[in-house]
Amino acid sequence: MKKIKVGILGATGSVGQRFVQLLDGHPWFELEALFASERSVGKKYKEVAKWFLPYKMPDEAAEMVVKSMDDVSEIRDIAVLFSALPGTIASEVEKRYAQAGYAVSSNVSVHRMEPDVPLVIPEINADHLALIAVQKEKRGWDGFIMTNPNCSAIVLTLSLKPLMRYGIKEVRVSTMQAVSGAGYAGVPSMAILDNVIPFIGNEEDKMESEPQKILGTLEGSEIKNATFNVCASCHRVPVMDGHTEAVWVKFEESVSEEEVKKAFMDFTTDIKTPFAPEKAIILREEQDRPQPKLDRDAGKGMSVSVGRIRRGRMENEIKYIAQGHNTIRGAAGASILNAEVLLERGYI
Ligand SMILES: NC(=O)c1ccc[n+]([C@@H]2O[C@H](COP(=O)([O-])OP(=O)(O)OC[C@H]3O[C@@H](n4cnc5c(N)ncnc54)[C@H](OP(=O)(O)O)[C@@H]3O)[C@@H](O)[C@H]2O)c1
Repeated sequence: MKKIKVGILGATGSVGQRFVQLLDGHPWFELEALFASERSVGKKYKEVAKWFLPYKMPDEAAEMVVKSMDDVSEIRDIAVLFSALPGTIASEVEKRYAQAGYAVSSNVSVHRMEPDVPLVIPEINADHLALIAVQKEKRGWDGFIMTNPNCSAIVLTLSLKPLMRYGIKEVRVSTMQAVSGAGYAGVPSMAILDNVIPFIGNEEDKMESEPQKILGTLEGSEIKNATFNVCASCHRVPVMDGHTEAVWVKFEESVSEEEVKKAFMDFTTDIKTPFAPEKAIILREEQDRPQPKLDRDAGKGMSVSVGRIRRGRMENEIKYIAQGHNTIRGAAGASILNAEVLLERGYI
C-alpha cells in the first residue's frame, strides 16, 4: 500500500510533538511537512522544537525545515493536515485548507460543536463521519474538517459508552489534569509545583457539551444529542501526562457494581486500524488504580483505564475513576486514529 502524505499544523507544540513521535514509522502515513509560527519558520525542526518527550526525536523530522502555513497549498500531494494550533488562529486556517481540498483532522475545539462537523471517537460513533458529505455539500468545499474531542471529554465519553445501555440520567465529573494539557508554554512551574489549580479555561464547557454529541445518534443529516446532563469541575495537577477523572453516574434505574464492571470488560468495537488499541477500556481491579504513572501508556497510550467502581450515596448512582493519556488518546493519537478510519472507509 502506498503511504498517504500528511502534514502537521502546530508541529512544535505539546500536541504537535506527539504527532511527530507517533507518526514515525506509521504504516499508512508519511510525514511530509511541519508547520508552525513565524518564530519557527525556515528553521530545522530540531532547532525550534523544545523536545520534552522521553523518546528520541525522529531523525527525519529533526532535519525538516519548518514551513509557514502560507506554504501549505504548494504541497499538493498532502492528503491530511493534522491540526494542533491554538484556537485563536485555528478557525480561519482550518477552514481555508478544508476549502482548498485537504482533509483537516483537528484537535482544536473551535469547530467541534458545529452541526455539520463530525466529532468522533471511532469506537463510539464512526457512523457520524457521514456528516462529511453534508459539510462538503453545504459549504461547497473540496475538503473537510473532522475533529476529535477535548482530552478530558474523550476519557469520560469512552467510559460512558458501555454504560449507555442502562439509561444514564446525569453525570458528575471532577478532573485531575496533567500539565502537558496546557501546552508547551503551559502553566508556570512556580504555579503548579506543590499545588492544584482549580481552573482550566473553557474546559468545563467542553466536558459538559461534547459527550452528548458523541453519544448522540445520526438521524438523516444531523446528530440528535444524548439527553443527559454532565456537570464538570476541572483542575490542573502537577502530573506530566495523563488525565484522571472521578466520575459519578446516576442511572434511570438501579445498576449494580458488577453490571458496570461487566459492561466495561465486555466493551469491544470493530475498529481494527493500526492505532486502535486491542482494548479501548481496561478494567483495573486493584483498589488503588488507575493511576497516571502506571496506566497512561496502556494500549500504547490509546486505552482508557477504569477502576474503583462502587455504589454512590445518591439514588441509582455508581462512581468510578477513569484515566487516559491526554496527548495520545486525548489528542494526537485520537486524531491519527480518526484519519486511519477516514482512509479505511474511503473518505480520503
Ligand atoms: N495539550 C493537550 O493535551 C491537548 C489535548 C487536546 C487538544 N489540545 C488542543 O490542541 C491545540 C494545540 O495545543 P498544544 O497544547 O500543543 O499547544 P502549544 O504547545 O502551545 O503549541 C502550539 C503550536 O501552534 C503553533 N502556533 C502558535 N501560534 C501560531 C501562529 N500564529 N501561526 C502558526 N502556528 C502557530 C506553535 O508554533 P511555535 O512553536 O512556532 O510558536 C506550536 O507549534 C490547542 O488548540 C489545544 O486546545 C491540546
